[in-house]
Amino acid sequence: MTSLQHPNPAQDLSLDPFWMPFTANRQYKARPRLLTSAQGVFYTDADGRQVLDGTSGLWCCNAGHGRREISEAVSRQIQQMDFAPTFQMGHPLPFQLAERLSELAPAGLNRVFFTNSGSESVDTALKIALGYQRAIGQGTRTRLIGRELGYHGVGFGGVSVGGMANNRKAFIPQLPGVDHLPHTLDLERNAFTKGLPAFGVERAEALEALVALHGAENIAAVIVEPMSGSAGVILPPQGYLQRLREITSKHGILLIFDEVITGYGRVGAPFASQRWGVTPDIITTAKGLTNGAIPMGAVFVAQHIHDAFMQGPKGLIEFFHGYTYSGHPVAAAAALATLDIYANEQLLTRAAELEDYWADALHSLRDLPNVIDIRNTGLVGAVHLASRPDAPGARGYEVFDGCFWEGAMVRCSGDIIAMSPPLTVEKAELDRLIDTLATVIRRTT
Ligand SMILES: Cc1ncc(COP(=O)(O)O)c(C=O)c1O
Repeated sequence: MTSLQHPNPAQDLSLDPFWMPFTANRQYKARPRLLTSAQGVFYTDADGRQVLDGTSGLWCCNAGHGRREISEAVSRQIQQMDFAPTFQMGHPLPFQLAERLSELAPAGLNRVFFTNSGSESVDTALKIALGYQRAIGQGTRTRLIGRELGYHGVGFGGVSVGGMANNRKAFIPQLPGVDHLPHTLDLERNAFTKGLPAFGVERAEALEALVALHGAENIAAVIVEPMSGSAGVILPPQGYLQRLREITSKHGILLIFDEVITGYGRVGAPFASQRWGVTPDIITTAKGLTNGAIPMGAVFVAQHIHDAFMQGPKGLIEFFHGYTYSGHPVAAAAALATLDIYANEQLLTRAAELEDYWADALHSLRDLPNVIDIRNTGLVGAVHLASRPDAPGARGYEVFDGCFWEGAMVRCSGDIIAMSPPLTVEKAELDRLIDTLATVIRRTT
C-alpha cells in the first residue's frame, strides 16, 4: 500500500472527539498508531506498513484476522435477521451456540448466559453467585473475594473484585464486602520459570484466613483469573488452583474462573480449567468467542447452580438480569463460525503444541538489558523489565511503541511486555516477533 491509498491520518482525521479507552490520549494523538486493515497474523497501518500482531488484537483474534468464514456468516445473518429479542422471545442461534459451547466446556458447566463483553460476563457471574446463595437459603453469603492484580473488566462489580490499583482508586465507592487474596507474582523465587512456577501454593491459604475472619456463612464466591493476563501474565503456582478449589468446596463458596483471556485456546486447551485440571463452578468468557469480530461474552454455569434458580411459580422470571443484546443473532452467527474454525483447524490445542518452541524463543531474551523475569504458558508470554526508579512504566511504553514502529504489536502493562499471538501463528513469525522485541529492548535504556 502506498501512502496515497492510506493518506496520513494526522492530516485527514480529526483525532480530538474520540476519547480513547485505556489510552494516554494526548501522547497517542501526538503520534498515532493507526491500523487500517488486517489479514492472517498481520495488521497494515495507515502508512501501509505490515505490523505483526503479537497480541491477537487485544487477546481476542485467536484464529487470526480476516477470516472469511466469520465475515460471511455475519453477512448472511444480518441479511436474514438483524436482531431479535431474547427477553420472553427467542431465535435459534443462541440455543445452538449454547449447546455447542456446553460441549466444549469443562464437564458439568452446561448452562450458558450470553453477554456482550468480558466486563458484563463478570458482573453477570457475580450476580449469579449472589442469587444462587439466596436461592439455596444461604442469603447471608454476600461477600465476594477477588485477588490483588486481578483484572475483571470495568463494571462496578468487576472493578470491586479486581486488584489493579489504577482501575480502582478513582472509582469509590465500590461494592461493599469485598476482600482480595494476595497475588502470586514472586520474582525472588520464581523468576525465569518456564510454565507454572514451583513456589507459591501457600498463597491460597490466605483464603482460609479470610474464612476465619468473616465466617464461611458470609462469603458467596471467589473470583480469580486462572492466569492473570492484563496485569502482566502472572501464572498460578503449581497446585495453587487446586488448593483454591479444595478450600472453596469445603466451605460452600463458589469458585469463579475469569477466562476472558485464557478461554478459547490461549493456554493450550479450550479452557485453562481443563489445561490445569481444576473445575470451577462458573467460567466467564468473551473475546475469543467470536474471534473478536463481533462483541459477545458467555458465562458458563454448573447445572446445579442454574437449577437452583428454577423454582417458584413457572410464570415468574427466575433471574432478573440480561442485556438487550444477550444472544444477539449476528454475534451468535460469528461465534458459531468461529467455533467451526477452531474445530476444523484444531486451534484450541495448538498453543500446547507450540508452547515449548515459544518458551525457548521467549526465554532467549533473558540476558538482555533490564530483563528481570520472563513468564510463559501456552501461547502467551511476558518479558518483565525493571522499572526506571523515577518513571515506572516509561521503559515498558517505549519498548511497546518502539516495537510498533519496527513492525510488531506487543502490549505493555507498566514495564511488563505481554504477548499472545494468534493461535494460527507459524514458528518463523514467532521468531520475527521475538527478534523485533530483542532489537527494541537492546536499544531502550
Ligand atoms: C480476565 C478479564 N476479565 C474481564 C475483562 C473485560 O473484558 P471487556 O474488555 O470485554 O469488558 C478482560 C479484558 O481484558 C479480562 O482480561
